[in-house]
Amino acid sequence: MKHSEYSAVIVGSGAAGLFAALKLSSQITLPDGILIVTKSTIGESNSKYAQGGIVGVLHQNKEDNVESHIEDTLRAGAGLSDKKVVKYISELSDTVINDLITYGVKFDKDKFGNLNFTLEAAHSHRRILHSGGDATGKGIVDALCKKVEEDSNITVLENTMAVELLINSNNETKGLIIYNSLTGEHEIVYSSAVILATGGVGQVYKYTTNPEGATGDGLDLAYNAGAIIQDMEFIQFHPTALALTPKSKERFLISEAVRGEGAKLIDSSGKEFMSKYHDKRELAPRDIVTRAIYSEMKKSHTTNMFLNASVIDKNKLAERFPTISKKCSVNGIDISSSPIPVAPAAHYTMGGIKATVEGKTSISGLYAIGEAASTGLHGANRLASNSLLECVVCAYELADYLSFANLETPKIIDNAIMQTIGIYSKPLTDIEYNIPELKQKLKDLMWNKAGIIRNERDLKSAISEIETMKANFKRERKCANIQEYEYRNMLTAAQLITESALNRTESVGAHSREDFKNSIQNEAKHSNIKKCNNTEIVEYVG
Ligand code: FAD
Ligand code: SIN
Repeated sequence: MKHSEYSAVIVGSGAAGLFAALKLSSQITLPDGILIVTKSTIGESNSKYAQGGIVGVLHQNKEDNVESHIEDTLRAGAGLSDKKVVKYISELSDTVINDLITYGVKFDKDKFGNLNFTLEAAHSHRRILHSGGDATGKGIVDALCKKVEEDSNITVLENTMAVELLINSNNETKGLIIYNSLTGEHEIVYSSAVILATGGVGQVYKYTTNPEGATGDGLDLAYNAGAIIQDMEFIQFHPTALALTPKSKERFLISEAVRGEGAKLIDSSGKEFMSKYHDKRELAPRDIVTRAIYSEMKKSHTTNMFLNASVIDKNKLAERFPTISKKCSVNGIDISSSPIPVAPAAHYTMGGIKATVEGKTSISGLYAIGEAASTGLHGANRLASNSLLECVVCAYELADYLSFANLETPKIIDNAIMQTIGIYSKPLTDIEYNIPELKQKLKDLMWNKAGIIRNERDLKSAISEIETMKANFKRERKCANIQEYEYRNMLTAAQLITESALNRTESVGAHSREDFKNSIQNEAKHSNIKKCNNTEIVEYVG
């Protein structure tokens, strides 16, 4: 197998991966350079589709402050956010937003040239910065991609997937195996710092706002290497995704910011219903709005509710939400006059690879940042627009941490590493799988049995079906193509979600058990799962 060496390897080119690469490059002299491997083209990621914005607790915004943002984040996190982490990330918001601006991100301004702050659900202040109206992710990713492409310390390998970590007998990360989907070749990359910035797992569900690549790859890699995985039962379902027809699987996001600007949720007869569920109505925490819509859909035997945006001034709608207006318009909906059909969809993974704010995981040399990581910021439920903030703050902190680390490329290849390389050197058995069909079966199963409202019977049945699906997919670890690898990784993500959801016998935040209604929020503990010699260790930690 071909091999190469880099001082640091970043997997993924969303906001977290790109920002980490730029910060590493600007802070440290790395003799062997930085490699970004990315499954698709550079910048293709969840980040690129972010709409609402990024939290900016800026010193210049006198109406807002860090304490208020901490309170809002902790309230949304339903007792499972780590206050120290929340404070740390909130305090760095001003610094990283200014960095983004320096890198060329153009946040929207008012006619006087001042930054425009908007409101989103469960925020006490207007503190969300946006770009291109509702194209914040594109604004950030495009600017960062341009900088990465100009940086001679950074090499980018597109259409290349990380498929396995190389961990030595001392439990230290020494590199990874990558798969180039254009050549069909596997290669070895040696490095003492591997950074997983691989995003979330939305594609595990039938309905999701996430693009195709969100298949939980980093999660599988880390779990298989024995890293601690935290809080996988906490999947955030966004309340308002465009539900064009009952059968259409695409769920384009209708940003919470539309409700922030005044849009109302209505049923098919035009009646508002949110006041029955929460005093903040449309701006209640996301899990509450999701369950309210879900409950109205169940009661009325319909497949969607509606969002009435016609209450917002027509010019403002067009200016603030150009992407959403256009998407609806090409599908025959003029949002300034017609209600938008909406339904919930899997949106964000609060759990993930347990990591510190600097991205350190339970394995030496392995780092996780962004949505792939679980730092304790989001707890049981993420506050809107906190995710992009977490991506950039943790990337920033990681670069700072690594500037003091020894990033010499590894010279000793021991038996444990040779064994892993051996698996990827062997030819594959000649079996063909209908992966689109298998993926769809898994997505349907997860939606129906481990979705918005859960119970023991369904979760047990889902776990047993996932076990069967794993047994029927006869690949040791090496697979034949990206589709197969994604299916392998989705099975791991599905297993971790369902097992964690079954183990948590309480309803808290986004995890709702109809057989355990009472939340015991103040006593909730994080669920940790780790693989050890092919058995699983599950524990709960405060
Ligand atoms: P991603 O941006 O998902 O990037 C992951 C990268 O890893 C991709 O490039 C992917 O191709 C690559 N990758 C994955 N696996 C592999 C592999 N095995 N090998 C190589 N490459 C791999 N959050 C907010 O804060 N504000 C918002 O307004 C907002 N709006 C959103 C709107 C939508 C439609 C969606 C889907 C999410 C939104 N979120 C928002 C959430 C937020 O966008 C994400 O949580 C965040 O962007 C994640 O960034 P990331 O860099 O961690 O991962
Ligand atoms: C949205 O724009 O509604 C998404 C914001 C987020 O997920 O943080």
